[in-house]
Amino acid sequence: MAGGYKYFEAIEKHAGKLGILTAIMVSIGGLAEITPLFVEAHAITATEGVKPYDPLRLAGKDIYVREGCYLCHTQMIRSLRAETQRYGHYSVSSESVYDRPHQWGSKRTGPDLARVGGKYSDEWQRLHLMDPRAVVAASNMPGYPWLANEQIDSDDIVARMRVLERLGDPYTAADFAAAPAALEGKTAMDALVAYLQGLGVPAAATEPVPTETAP
Ligand code: HEC
Repeated sequence: MAGGYKYFEAIEKHAGKLGILTAIMVSIGGLAEITPLFVEAHAITATEGVKPYDPLRLAGKDIYVREGCYLCHTQMIRSLRAETQRYGHYSVSSESVYDRPHQWGSKRTGPDLARVGGKYSDEWQRLHLMDPRAVVAASNMPGYPWLANEQIDSDDIVARMRVLERLGDPYTAADFAAAPAALEGKTAMDALVAYLQGLGVPAAATEPVPTETAP
């Protein structure tokens, strides 16, 4: 016992040694927690109906990220009653396997958008992005009118699809060949509206909305 105590003393009285050994122990603990999550993440497959983004929606997703929409909007409905009543079925990880980077977020100045697809018409989405106050009088969301004048560069989107294919998204040669025609004449506004209109749609078709039980 006395011998063991000497070792403790040697460590505890030397800040450097204590620091290094603490860092090693914390790293081992961290690895033990994180490693299984990496293995699990690879085991998750897409929910039925969830497909890699078509070229127009992929372009829209990039604009969503570029414009920082995630700074005010989450795409993650939590499994809380108030949330599922407002937004629909809670989000599951198999819905975002093709989202790189995912847009779950935690900051909600505006509402969650995980299931906003189909909630409004394309025209509503367009007007709202041009000038939010034209359709929601009290909105404090900024307008994004310049998106209507920005053309989508199809070479850029095809290059992005090729990178995603390398990362494992099942794009086919036919998808690459069809992309330029699908993007012909499209604006950033068209792409962003297409992206929004698809959010949560495949999952909503396959997952039952949780039913209410009396408290
Ligand atoms: C400064 C915060 C802020 C930013 C940035 C922002 N929004 Fe919003 N958004 C809001 C607020 C607040 C609302 C609720 C009022 C309204 O409908 O305008 C909203 C509402 C919405 C809605 C309607 C949701 C619903 O269920 O009614 C959509 C769709 C939307 N935003 C998309 C976007 C997109 C796309 C971007 C990026 C181009 C964006 N927002 C950027 C704050 C923001």
